[in-house]
Amino acid sequence: MTNAITKAEINGGAVRVIFDDGRETAYHFLWLRDNCPRGLHPQTRERVFDLLSVGDDVAPIRIAADANALSVWWDGEDAPSVFSAEWLRANAYDGQSLSERRILPTLWGAKDLPAPPRFSFAAVKNGAALPWLLALRDYGLTIIDEAPPRTDAVREAAHLIAPLRRTNFGEEFEVRSKPDPNNVAYTALDLQAHTDLPNREMPPGVQFLHCLANGATGGESVFADGFRIAAEMRETDAAAFALLCDTPLPFRFHDGECDLRFYAPTIALDRHGDFFQIRHHLALTAPLDIDFAKTPAVYRALRAFAALARDSRFALDLRLAPGEIAVFNNRRILHGRRAFDPSSGARHLQGCYVDWDETLSRIRVLERGE
Ligand code: OGA
Ligand code: ZN
Repeated sequence: MTNAITKAEINGGAVRVIFDDGRETAYHFLWLRDNCPRGLHPQTRERVFDLLSVGDDVAPIRIAADANALSVWWDGEDAPSVFSAEWLRANAYDGQSLSERRILPTLWGAKDLPAPPRFSFAAVKNGAALPWLLALRDYGLTIIDEAPPRTDAVREAAHLIAPLRRTNFGEEFEVRSKPDPNNVAYTALDLQAHTDLPNREMPPGVQFLHCLANGATGGESVFADGFRIAAEMRETDAAAFALLCDTPLPFRFHDGECDLRFYAPTIALDRHGDFFQIRHHLALTAPLDIDFAKTPAVYRALRAFAALARDSRFALDLRLAPGEIAVFNNRRILHGRRAFDPSSGARHLQGCYVDWDETLSRIRVLERGE
């Protein structure tokens, strides 16, 4: 249901619009001229209007509105700019409208999410991908189960979102204890909760880990909501929280083929101050080379974050079974595994990545069809 316009008037450099539910909002003259639907290419819907073709003092000579649309006439132009009420409402940029359009994640601790939301491989492949993707967007962690025991199953699941994001570990990577590992994941050692590839300029947004075998003793998985941990820190240790937001840390991965480094803070917030991205991987944190005087406080904050990631209030323990694919937001959820004994049985996960913007795009496209 769309809201009708009840009133529109020129008011101090902007057009003020009141909708039938009482919402009052306003649109700057230049903003309206810039977004005139006539300035969009009819097929691509991209803007062809040149922002520099009008002065920054552009102003309407007349406006008119009915319930469904606002028309704005400009000096020297015959045709008005006509904006539908629905479009104006959907693009309103007053504080209340902006905050209504925010999609906030559902933060969770171990008690709130005793088990990740689960979806069957057949269901997500056969047209029910949207509930799975919405759970991934909101909780950051899902399990796809009953996946076929094939090495291309993880790629099939990931392709429901987008082509794979290739990294220095390839398109798919095999997580098992290897004789000549270039990565702690490829040993049988304990792997503390982390996000993958914080040493990259853009760490992959979604990680898939398909369990093909988990017969060894040990090897249980652990997942924790990095946003929930950051929220806890913000509440209980504001100084440490601020340091982790403001201090880019050095991350590095290097082997025979590459030496990939990037500086980024542990916690990144978006333009509203909401949680945006977590980077945390003690094994890939390069020797700290930050401000000398700040180093002890940064260590204190980093240790506090790492301790919360291991705290049973936040860490969700589970054992992946063959046929399960853990799918999670790699820029939010910390994941790890307990050490295992490779002589006691086979353990083999196959992983791959896709990007987070692709995930949100797929959701929007599927929602169009609803
Ligand atoms: C990884 C990883 C976890 C596991 O490969 O990035 O964290 O359970 N693996 O082996
Ligand atoms: Zn990992």
